Amino acid sequence: MDKAISLQAVIFDLDGVITDTAEYHYQAWKAISDELGISFSREFNENLKGVSRIDSLKLLLGQASPPLAYSNEEMEQLANRKNQLYQELIKKVTPADLLPGIPEFIADLKRNGVKIGLASASKNALVVVQRLGVESDFDIIVDVTKLKHNKPDPEIFLTAAASLGVDPRRCIGVEDAVAGVNAIKAANMFAVAIGDRTAFPNADVILPDTAQLNLGDLAKRFS
Ligand code: BG6
Ligand code: MG
Repeated sequence: MDKAISLQAVIFDLDGVITDTAEYHYQAWKAISDELGISFSREFNENLKGVSRIDSLKLLLGQASPPLAYSNEEMEQLANRKNQLYQELIKKVTPADLLPGIPEFIADLKRNGVKIGLASASKNALVVVQRLGVESDFDIIVDVTKLKHNKPDPEIFLTAAASLGVDPRRCIGVEDAVAGVNAIKAANMFAVAIGDRTAFPNADVILPDTAQLNLGDLAKRFS
């Protein structure tokens, strides 16, 4: 990489970017929805990406017709059950589940002295990166339980940059969720979206999949 490039850090989302746990979140919510008799499509699931567990449940319950009223305690129980299903699913995660191109991209960042952060909204993030065998690759893993605001608020990305000691304008954020891309932009970072070309109006770069992550290319676009 060109040494003159001012890129100093890449901050990753986890679910759907480093590994396909977005699919496991979907499967766990689908099981809960089926039990409650609420229709739950993959299209609707896109709205839950990057969204916290309890807010995801509220969005899901908002789909019910006629509307279903749940107490806070009942909602907490439902959210806990979803999490148990999810935790069961992630037991099978191994290093082979890193998405295509991620190991090479991370290696390239390290070779070039670009810092690496993780900004995941998931309280299960640490377990997942441990199962993937990449915990030590991250210079910082933001503890989401210490944050006040959820994506699309920029807090999680700003916290990652501050912990890395890097100006947000010198960071690239990588996301697969609209809420996440909006959080990156609100943090004044360069946003790389993974997914559908038409789904991310605010992204600086949209790549169809993680195999297309290339430091040289991104650094050029970034500068
Ligand atoms: C995000 C996922 O990374 O984490 C969301 O995109 C999920 O789907 C959120 O709801 C919270 O995850 P968890 O593991 O704390 O329920
Ligand atoms: Mg994600």
